[in-house]
Amino acid sequence: MEYSEKVMDHFMNPRNVGVIEDASGVGQVGNAKCGDIMKVYLKIEDGRIEDAKFKTFGCGAAVATSSMATELVKGKTLQEALEVTNKAVMEALDGLPPVKVHCSCLAEEALHAALWDYAEKNGVKIEGLKPPVDDVDDLHHMDEE
Ligand code: FES
Repeated sequence: MEYSEKVMDHFMNPRNVGVIEDASGVGQVGNAKCGDIMKVYLKIEDGRIEDAKFKTFGCGAAVATSSMATELVKGKTLQEALEVTNKAVMEALDGLPPVKVHCSCLAEEALHAALWDYAEKNGVKIEGLKPPVDDVDDLHHMDEE
């Protein structure tokens, strides 16, 4: 399996690992297929993401994609953060091997779940944001329907 230099860099030196104690929003998702779990913390002020951190029991690709995803959302508005999809993250990392694409969904979904948590707590609406799923595997079933 071939990983890009950027993936290796973010895997070996992940950015934003950790916890935000007084996070504005927290999201957690798992993937039943591989048993991996991802948790994302966001600090939001004046409608902007001031800080983002993550903790994962995930594979190397999950670490690299979360590292990149948290980097990409920092400084963005809530609406802009929705554009940080797993595709955008993979592009920023110069690609992932096909069997590892599902790992990038963990980062996106945990990020969305954290945005959802913030929106619920603060009574704000983020246009286009869907309710979070507990397991990214559920997403595929939804696609099939
Ligand atoms: Fe589970 Fe990558 S194998 S997140």
